[in-house]
This record gives sequence, C-alpha cells and structure tokens, in this order.
Amino acid sequence: MNFKELCPARLVVASNRSPYTFRQIGRSMKAERAIGGLVAAVEPALCFLGGIWIGWSGRPQHQPERMAVPPDDPKYELQFVALSNDEINRYYEGFANGALWPLCHYALDKCDFSREHWQVYAAVNQKFAAAILQELRPQDVVWIHDYHLALVPQFVRTGAPGVRIAYFWHIPFPSVDLFRALPWRRDVLRGLLNSDLIGFHTETYVRNFLDCAETILNVPVDRERGLVTLGNRAVKVRALPLGIDVAYCQQLASSPEMQAKAETIRRALKSEIVALGVERLDYTKGILERMWAVERLLEKYPDLRHRFSLLQIAAPSRTKVSEYRRLKRLVDETIGRINGRFAQLDWAPITYFYKAIPRAELTAYYQAADMALVIPLRDGMNLVAKEYVASRTNDEGIIILSEFAGVAEEFEQEAILVNPFDIEQVAEAIKQAIDMEPSERRQRMHRLREKVKRHDLTWWLRRILREIASLSESRVVVESNVMRHRAP
Ligand code: UDP
Ligand code: G6P
Repeated sequence: MNFKELCPARLVVASNRSPYTFRQIGRSMKAERAIGGLVAAVEPALCFLGGIWIGWSGRPQHQPERMAVPPDDPKYELQFVALSNDEINRYYEGFANGALWPLCHYALDKCDFSREHWQVYAAVNQKFAAAILQELRPQDVVWIHDYHLALVPQFVRTGAPGVRIAYFWHIPFPSVDLFRALPWRRDVLRGLLNSDLIGFHTETYVRNFLDCAETILNVPVDRERGLVTLGNRAVKVRALPLGIDVAYCQQLASSPEMQAKAETIRRALKSEIVALGVERLDYTKGILERMWAVERLLEKYPDLRHRFSLLQIAAPSRTKVSEYRRLKRLVDETIGRINGRFAQLDWAPITYFYKAIPRAELTAYYQAADMALVIPLRDGMNLVAKEYVASRTNDEGIIILSEFAGVAEEFEQEAILVNPFDIEQVAEAIKQAIDMEPSERRQRMHRLREKVKRHDLTWWLRRILREIASLSESRVVVESNVMRHRAP
C-alpha cells in the first residue's frame, strides 16, 4: 500500500505515551516498545510518510531527547517531552487517569475533579503544543492522539492558524448526561474542536460527541454530514474503527514455535476447556466481575470443576493511581478465595499472571484458548478481541463479548454478547459456549475472521489518511456552511 499517494504530507504525531522508551544497560541503550493499540496503529503511517512523533518517555527523567526509530530500521524521529514528577502526578495520574478516563468509561464514582490537576493538565498540554509548533514545517499535518491531549489542538491553532489538525480519540466518548459532569466540559470540547477532523471508534461515540457539542457549546451540528461549526471553521467528526495487522497475526499464528508453545500452555493447565482473559489491570476491564462469573459457573455446574479453567493475564498498569492499586488487592483476594474454594491437587479454576506478555508471545495464548472472555464494563474498542480472532487460523474458538466494548458494534452477530454486570448471564454464556455445536462455533469464527480481515489496519489507515488528505477541501465546505448559518 502506498500511503504517500493517499496523503503526501509529513506527519507530526503527538501522544502522551511515546512508542518507545529507552533504558541504559551498561554502555548501550535498550529500546522497549510501548504496549497497546495506539502505537501499533500509528507507527506504520509514520514509517511510510516520515515525520516526527512527540511523546512522554513514560519515566520522570528521560535519557535522550531525540532518537531515530524504529531502533533497528529508523524511519522517523522521536522527540521526548520531559515531565516533572509533579506534572506526572497531576496531569497524567491526576486529571487524565483520575478524571477523564473514569468519566469516559462511565465510572463517575471514581472521578476526582481537582482544579489543581486540571490546571497542570492545561499547562502540560501547552508544553506538548509548544513542542509541536517548534517542529512544524509548511504542509505538515498534525495528528494528535487520545484523552491526555484534548487542549493541544487549540494551543497549536493559536500558534499556527492555518495548520491541518487531525485528532483520534481512542477511548469511549460518553453520553451528554455524563459528560456534563465535567466542570471543564466546555474547555475540553473547544480544545478538541480546534481540530479539522476528529475520529472515534464507533458511531455511538460520534453521536455522543455531536450531542455534547450541540447541547453544551450550543454550536451548529450537521449530523448527516458529520460536521460541527465552530466560528469560521467546520470540523469533520467521523467513526473510523481501528483495525489490526491481520497479516502479522496470521504469520505469528502459523509459526511452529507459537504452535508448540500453545501446546505447552494447554498441557500445563490440565483442563479440557480453557478460557482466556488478556488486558491491562484496569477497573474498566471487568476482571473482578468475570471472576465472580467463573465462581457462579462452577457453583451451578459442578461437573465443570476439573474440566474448565480460566487463564487470566493482567498487565500492570497505572500502578500509582489509587483505584488501580485497590483493584489489584481485590483481584488478588478474589482469585485466592475462588481457587481456595474449588482447587484440587492437580487443578485450579483460575491461573493468574500479573505481568505483561510480549505481543508476539500472546499468540500462543490466543491459540491455546477455546474461548476468549472479553467482558469489559466499558471499552473504546478492545483490540484483544480482534487479535484473538485473527490468531484462530483454524476457525476454532469463540468470544464472549461485553455489549459495552466498542468492538461489539462489529462483532455483535457472531460473538456471544453479554451484559458484564449480569454475573448470572455471563456464567450462562460460558456454559452456552461450552455446549455449542463445534460446527456453529466454526461458522461464527470464520465470519469474524472475514470481518477482521476486511477491516484491518491498512483499511483503517487508508480511510483516515484519505480524510486527512481531504482536509484542505473541507475548508471550502466550511465557508459555505458558515455562510448558510449566517444567512438571515
Ligand atoms: N497486550 C500485550 N501484552 C499484554 C497485554 C496486552 O501486548 O500482556 C497488548 C494487546 O495485544 C493489545 C493491547 O495490548 O494489542 C491492548 O489493547 P486493547 O485495545 O485491548 O486495550 P487497551 O489496553 O488499549 O485498553
Ligand atoms: C489505552 C489508552 C492509551 C494508553 C494505553 C495504556 O489504550 O487509550 O492512550 O497509552 O491505554 O495506558 P498508559 O497509561 O500506560 O499509557
């Protein structure tokens, strides 16, 4: 795919987390790639189009300021933004992960709306904008990512009024009733609306965002064309569901090494039926609720004891935020209690890893599992669901899927859809998956694989780069739109 033909501009990408961090080991520098969908999605575009990625190194002190990456075959520049301990505490842990993250995931009870945190959030956003402005060359496109940097478009626009700005919001966008709870709701919306294009994973998030713009800012919204008018500019708002690199997943899945590892995992678990959960240890992922569902399953169907087990991988995440530490304690206790209740000498219902597994190695876990439990209480998209499907090259396997994950808008027909708050329903869904005719499971998985292949990462990049490339045209639309609004 020649992305350059689609979008001949250089990209200036900004996200809170940078794609690589570097650690000094002896005399050499070791690069570590960040976990998550954001990096996997955006890096191919930068490798093709060239440019620069501006991000925080993830540590209070970063070593180098600028590096050419990927380390083994450099294609673009990485520029680190340095953050002090206080900034990390108030901007990243405080406002981004203590207010915006729970708010957008419908966890209002976990929101800490501290004015101090908000002020530091704004100041750090200004810092990112300054770093972008310093790098900007004529014709560049600025592409900003996620909820950490909502005010950056406005600060960049002030410094470079004519620049094209695209934004991708990777998490859910909540309904207006919820978003209204944010004391700085207008500032955040205005900040975002200084972009020319705002992308979300689903139509629901687009609808929610448009409702917020209309109700909270009282600005004209054209739902049919997906446009919001702010001052003399129209902003395109689009549903652009992120896809994954299916070819890479399939290549891993067919490697003899992964297949052998999958066998080893199955043998070690000593269970006829293996279910898998993979996520960061985050309260939005419904890990506790899933444990309760497994407990209910084993209570209700004693014949499954010894036959069924759950392998839960939880990667440590945001460990300085108190809600995450609390969750860790609860998960440890709950798994201990359930295993204590049901385990036998040669079998335990839950095997639990509290560590990150390298992406490639996850393939073996996907292949070892008869079913994936993707049951978040709320999730922007959930790439694990797509990776599981893409790794099931033999069409075996099934997904039990929360109706509150963004991916449910794509998988609702083929997965077993559940309400993650309904423990009884989740337990019954696991039983349904176990009892399902193998031919039906295969049909469902086959259809899912076709979907994931059709809407893969290249498909997503083409769509988004086409939208980005047409941004200058959209300014013409803006003018006619504005005139329409001004007409008596
Ligand atoms: N992941 C990983 N190792 C782990 C856990 C997760 O590499 O131990 C990857 C996983 O393969 C997926 C990403 O992290 O690509 C998680 O993305 P997802 O959309 O599921 O959830 P998020 O963490 O972005 O909320
Ligand atoms: C989600 C967010 C990303 C974030 C990732 C990991 O996927 O959408 O922006 O990078 O979680 O979280 P962390 O706080 O470690 O960056």
